[in-house]
Amino acid sequence: MKKTKKIGILTSGGDCPGLNAVIRAAVKCATRKGWEIYGIPYGTDGFIDVAKGEIKPEDLRLNEHGYDIPGLLQGLDVLQFLSGSVLGSLSKGDTEKPEVAEKIIEGYKILGLDSLIAIGGDGSLDIIHNLAVKGKWNMIGVPKTIDNDVPFTERAVGFDTAVNTVTDALYNLTFTAASHERVMVVQVMGRDAGHLALHAGIAGGADVILIPELTPRLSEEAVIKVCEKLASLRQEKRKFALVVVAEGVRNAEGKMDKNIGEILANQIKEYSQKLCNLEQRHFCGMDEVDTRVTVLGHVQRSGTPTSFDRLLATAMGIKAIDLIEQEQYNRLVVWEAGKVESKPLDQVITLIRKCHEEKRCPSPVDPNGFMVQTARSLGIYVGDSLKPTMNNSSSGNPANGMSSSVLPETLATS
Ligand code: F6P
Repeated sequence: MKKTKKIGILTSGGDCPGLNAVIRAAVKCATRKGWEIYGIPYGTDGFIDVAKGEIKPEDLRLNEHGYDIPGLLQGLDVLQFLSGSVLGSLSKGDTEKPEVAEKIIEGYKILGLDSLIAIGGDGSLDIIHNLAVKGKWNMIGVPKTIDNDVPFTERAVGFDTAVNTVTDALYNLTFTAASHERVMVVQVMGRDAGHLALHAGIAGGADVILIPELTPRLSEEAVIKVCEKLASLRQEKRKFALVVVAEGVRNAEGKMDKNIGEILANQIKEYSQKLCNLEQRHFCGMDEVDTRVTVLGHVQRSGTPTSFDRLLATAMGIKAIDLIEQEQYNRLVVWEAGKVESKPLDQVITLIRKCHEEKRCPSPVDPNGFMVQTARSLGIYVGDSLKPTMNNSSSGNPANGMSSSVLPETLATS
């Protein structure tokens, strides 16, 4: 086994809180061992710049204290507190073009790395793994994403902070909702997964949480169920409500829509009115429901990482170095039952690819899992249980298999 190592580290895909904490831990741990560690800027694009001679390898060398803070704060180790990525990240690349892949592999060769730590989500890990196979790289993956949808790990770096951010937003919206007797519809990120919406919805006191795993699309039936929940709150003299909708929930036609929150808010108004007109008395009073929509957007990707995210990121960064030291390559660092472990990357990537081909989320919310049960036990409306015939994916299949028995007949046939 080679004693000193030369390794690279990069961040790829959408940024999230905690990336810098992984980098910091890996740099500290590697330099303490006397290894050389190189920070690749802007994901695999950095290798292209090296191949083109636009960046010299020595410029990429990372040291434990390579960042200067003036005055008495000099030497303060701030990196784990900062969001974003000091290395920059890459959301889109052209790696499927052979000439681009060749340049990336050439850059890697010039650096002469023994191994590469790639911090990424399901999409970017797949792309980098592909390059690693072509270039015969010794890759270690570290999962990060606010969507928490990387398979084989219970947690990805960045998720916990995003849950806190959304939870805080819900808390803040509660008081203005109450003051104006409004229904606040809050649109939450998460791509095809509902983890972020579900966790934050529970922690933030939502009354309704719609996630793609349980509400694949805003069918008439789904909207009526939401109205029923809101009407029941009114009957209990609660005149405001918080409705969380994950961005992965499709519109009535089963299509992704970046205004899904707005669509839901309009449908709540429309259906409440219709139901009242149909003499469904408990919906009356809901006919003038005042809705407002908040799209939280990219604020969910930032913020000081929570202590859990810092710990997770730190433990994962160190695990990556341990794996390299033991020359156990081609593995994904994972969080399992309260500690860091690792899984074969081939197994992880095979599952990710299969799910992407079938247009479904590689690690969705379990519709019968304890988190959904927890929400239900609190009386939060999270959608109905799916029928066994339902394709449990979040593929946006409009044939969502839901029963229409809850619909008043006139609406069901209208
Ligand atoms: O995957 C992370 C994520 O923040 C998703 O939740 C969201 O749908 C997407 O990235 C937004 O991507 P972009 O930054 O390219 O707009």
